[in-house]
Amino acid sequence: MAEIASILQGGYNHPLARQWQAETKLSKSMFMYPLFITDNDDEETIIPSLPGQYRRGVNKLVPFLEPLVKLGLKSVILFGVPLHPDAKDPTASKASDPDGPVVQGIKVLRKAFPDLYIACDVCLCEYTSHGHCGVLHEDGRLKNAESIQRIADIAGDYALAGANCVAPSDMNDGRIGAIKKKLIELGLENKVLLMSYAAKFSGCLYGPFRDAAGSAPSFGDRKAYQLPPPARGLAHRAVIRDCNEGADIIMVKPATFYLDIIRDAREVAPYVPIAAYQVSGEFAMIHAAAEKGVFGLKEAAMENFQAIVRAGARIIVTYFCEQALKEGWWNED
Ligand code: PBG
Ligand code: ZN
Repeated sequence: MAEIASILQGGYNHPLARQWQAETKLSKSMFMYPLFITDNDDEETIIPSLPGQYRRGVNKLVPFLEPLVKLGLKSVILFGVPLHPDAKDPTASKASDPDGPVVQGIKVLRKAFPDLYIACDVCLCEYTSHGHCGVLHEDGRLKNAESIQRIADIAGDYALAGANCVAPSDMNDGRIGAIKKKLIELGLENKVLLMSYAAKFSGCLYGPFRDAAGSAPSFGDRKAYQLPPPARGLAHRAVIRDCNEGADIIMVKPATFYLDIIRDAREVAPYVPIAAYQVSGEFAMIHAAAEKGVFGLKEAAMENFQAIVRAGARIIVTYFCEQALKEGWWNED
């Protein structure tokens, strides 16, 4: 006879009882969709390494998003992909060009979808000739003061253009405080949310994104600023630091290899929402494995989302948004 304390199955034998075992259910409001916006207004080009994802010009954004917003898409995060030959220089001076893809994208989306939550990734790497996420010294190191000043100016320009959220992904020390001060200077500190890519790890999972955004470094790598994969302690310190500098949301990135870091962030920063970025390499990996017959695509993606939420995230940035909304993955039951 089974011991009383050994019996668990009665607690989840019914489908409804299984749902009650989730601390938090997946819902559409948790998901944020990354969009790649080019400076060719009419472009719509598939990104080969990111299944089903496109680079789009500003004229293609509204027709693409209209059905998704109707299906319940609540938020997007914008990435500029400048393709014009003169768009890049050592200081990323075109990052917040008033005629550039991000500022124009914000304006077009704000007008067409007044309730859509518009976040903007803030970084220099898409706009620097060297492809690094800051301004550089002669020897290739990041010049800190100048870099965070550029980052803060760009974030301020996106905020002025109408972004709801600015999300620096550059990893320069001190940029959260610099952006917060800029928002205060502009009188936008009580309107614009600051989401920090706080625990962002260097590693092998950003390849398809760098193809998509044309942002691979032309020399060296990002190990001097993105965190080393084993560095739990540094992630802890970065989360605390960014909270102290005024971050409203803390992001962990990538997600799936870093579920312990998501849980740590939840515990270290219990009073801010935690976001997780299921990055390009994770997305491509799930697609590749599904194609090989390892598992069903939807089943794997959903199990992955559940794991990310179980770990402690309440916001998931994912390239799956279009498919999930069209196929009703997140519909309430
Ligand atoms: C830019 C940036 C990157 C990602 C988000 N913002 C690339 C990088 O840091 O090299 C990665 C997103 C993804 O892989 O999906 N700093
Ligand atoms: Zn960058």
